[in-house]
Amino acid sequence: MARRDVEHTPLAIPNGWFAVAFSRDIVAGDIKPIHYFDEDLVLFRTRSGQARVLDPYCPHLGAHLGHGGRVIGESIRCPFHAWQYDGESGACVKIPYCERIPPAAKVKAWHTMEKNGLIFVWHHDRDAAPSWDIPVYDEIGDDAWSEPRLHDIVLEAHVQDTHENNNDPVHFQYVHSMTETPPSSIEYRDDGRVYRSISDCTADVPNGDPIHYTLERDAFGIGQVSLRFAGIPGAGLLMFSSSTPIDATKTHSRWLLTCTKNMVDVWGEEFMLALVSGVQCDFPIWKNKVHRARPVLCEEDTFLADYRNWVKQFYSRPAAD
Ligand code: FES
Ligand SMILES: [Fe+2]
Repeated sequence: MARRDVEHTPLAIPNGWFAVAFSRDIVAGDIKPIHYFDEDLVLFRTRSGQARVLDPYCPHLGAHLGHGGRVIGESIRCPFHAWQYDGESGACVKIPYCERIPPAAKVKAWHTMEKNGLIFVWHHDRDAAPSWDIPVYDEIGDDAWSEPRLHDIVLEAHVQDTHENNNDPVHFQYVHSMTETPPSSIEYRDDGRVYRSISDCTADVPNGDPIHYTLERDAFGIGQVSLRFAGIPGAGLLMFSSSTPIDATKTHSRWLLTCTKNMVDVWGEEFMLALVSGVQCDFPIWKNKVHRARPVLCEEDTFLADYRNWVKQFYSRPAAD
C-alpha cells in the first residue's frame, strides 16, 4: 500500500446545515440537479417561492427529476411519465393517467431552509432531524452596508480540513504572509456547539495608517463560519461562508462578504478581494496533504487540539484511527 494511503485517515461526511446554492441563482420554477454529501439530489423552487431538495430518482422507472422535470405549483413533475412529487413531503401527489397512487411512490425530502441569501440543506447520516439553526445576519440587506459580494469555489479537500484552517492561527503567518501570529483566544457558546475564536489583528491600508481590529470567527458547525471585523470605529466587515461536502475529498465553499458603505470605496473592496484571493495560498497544501486522525502536536498547538475535540460532536461515529 502506498505511504500516502497508510498515513491518511478518511473522514466521514459530517452532520449539519450546509449551503447548496445562493438564493439568487434559483428563481420560482427553476430546477437544478446537484451533487452534495456524495449523493445525487434535485433542487427546485416552487411557485410560492419555497426552495426544496429531494432525492432525484423517480420510484416509478427511475428517471432523474432534475433532468427534464418541471415545477408544477408546489411539486415537481417527472419527465418520463409525469408523476408529481410534493416538494415538502416527497410524496407522489398525482399520476395523470391513474386514480390510485401506490403508497411507496415517495422520495426522500431533505430539510431545507433559506437564510442570509443562501439555501441550506440538513445532512445527517442517520436521518436525525435538525437540532440547531443558522443565525440571521442583520448586516445583510441593511442600508448602511454594501450589497453583498458573492464568491464560490470548489476545493480539493475534506470540509473538516478546509474548516480547520480557520482555527489554525499559526498558519496565517507562514501561509498567508501575516507579519506575526495574532494573539487569539477561544470561547464556546450554545452548550459548546458554537466555537468563537477572537484574534487581535493589524492590517496595512493603501495610503493610510495601519488599522487595528478584532477578528471574531464564529463556527456554528463544520464549514459554517462568520467572520466579523470589529473594533474599527464606525466601520465593519462581515464575511459568512458555508462549505459543503461534495464528497469526502471535495468541498464547495460559498462566501458572502459585506462591509459598511463608509469604507467600501476606501479600502473595503480591496480588503474583501484580498480575503477571497488569500484562500488560494492554501490550495497546494490541501490538495497534497493527508488527514492525520492523531496528529503530533506541540504544546503551543492548543487551538488545533481544541478544534479536533469540538468537531467530534458533528459526526455520528467516532473517526477511525
Ligand atoms: S419514471 Fe418517473 S414517472 Fe415514470
Ligand atoms: Fe488558510
